[in-house]
Amino acid sequence: MAEPCRRRMEEDEEEVEVEEVPGGFTIRPCWPSDFEAVRRLYQEAAAEQVGTAFRQALQRPAVLALLGLCAALPFLGPWPGPGPGLWAAALMGPALAAASLYGACLRFGRASAAGPLQEDLADIDGYFLRPRDAGLWVAQLGGAGPLVGMVAVMAETEGPAGSCELCRLAVAPGLRRCGLGRALFCRALRFARARGYRLCLIYTSSTNTAALPLYKAAGFRLHQAYPPPEIGPLVQLLCQVTDYILTLRLSDTHPGEGGSAGLGA
Ligand SMILES: CC(C)(COP(=O)(O)OP(=O)(O)OC[C@H]1O[C@@H](n2cnc3c(N)ncnc32)[C@H](O)[C@@H]1OP(=O)(O)O)[C@@H](O)C(=O)NCCC(=O)NCCS
Repeated sequence: MAEPCRRRMEEDEEEVEVEEVPGGFTIRPCWPSDFEAVRRLYQEAAAEQVGTAFRQALQRPAVLALLGLCAALPFLGPWPGPGPGLWAAALMGPALAAASLYGACLRFGRASAAGPLQEDLADIDGYFLRPRDAGLWVAQLGGAGPLVGMVAVMAETEGPAGSCELCRLAVAPGLRRCGLGRALFCRALRFARARGYRLCLIYTSSTNTAALPLYKAAGFRLHQAYPPPEIGPLVQLLCQVTDYILTLRLSDTHPGEGGSAGLGA
C-alpha cells in the first residue's frame, strides 16, 4: 500500500472502519488495490445512462412523430404506387433516425463519464485518499468478493464555504434494490457530517432515475436544473435530458436517510 494512504488510515480511525450492512455486504474505505475495479464499476454504471436517455427519448411524442415522419416520407414522393423498395425505405428511415439518436445518446453518455474518469478517478489517491476531508468507500459481498458498490465525498470548492460533493454512487446491476445503495449513501453523508461540512451537493441527471428518489427521500432539494453541456441542441430538444444540482443542509436530518446505516456520527 502507498505510504500516504497507510499513514492516513493509521491516523484516522474512521478510515479503517469496516461496516457490515444487511444483505451480507461490507463497506470499507477504498484501498489502492481497488482502483481499477472502482473505475470499471463507475464506467459500467455511467454507461447505463445511454440506455436510459434513449428510452426516455423514445417515449417523447416529438420523437415518435419524427420516427413516424421518417416512415411516411417514402410514400409522400411523386413515385408510382407502393412497391418493395418503398416499404424497405419506410423501414430504413425510422431505423436510421433511431440509430442516429442512439449514437447521440452514446456520445452524451461517454462525454459525461469522461470527466470523472479523466479527473478524480484517474487520481483516486490524490482526490479521495490523501485529503482528510475526502473519502471513497467500496462495498463487497461477504467482505472478500469483487467490488459491488462505491460512493465518494470531496470538498466542493465552487459552492459556499463548508460545502462538499457526494459523488460516484453506484451499485452493481445484479445487486440493486437490496439496500446497498442507501447504505453507501448514508456512509458518505455520515462522513460529511463528521468532517463538519455544512452543505452537501450532488450533481446528477434526469437519467439517474433510481438515484433521484433516494436523494429526494433524504431531503435533498433542487438547487439548479440545466441542459447537460455535453449534449448538442438538437439531441437536447429530442431527449430533454436535464442535469440537476441538488443540495442538503447537513444540519438537517431526514428520515429518508434512515435504515440500519443511520447517521450516527
Ligand atoms: C442509484 C443506485 C446506487 C441505488 O442502489 P440500490 O442498491 O439499488 O439502492 P437501494 O436498494 O438502497 O434503494 C434505496 C432507494 O433508492 C431508490 N431506488 C433504488 N432503485 C430504484 C429504482 N429502480 N426506481 C426507483 N427508485 C429506486 C428508492 O428510493 C430506494 O428506496 P426504497 O427501497 O425504500 O424504495 C443504483 O441504482 C445505481 O448504481 N444506479 C446507477 C448509477 C447511478 O445512477 N448513480 C447515481 C449517480 S448521481
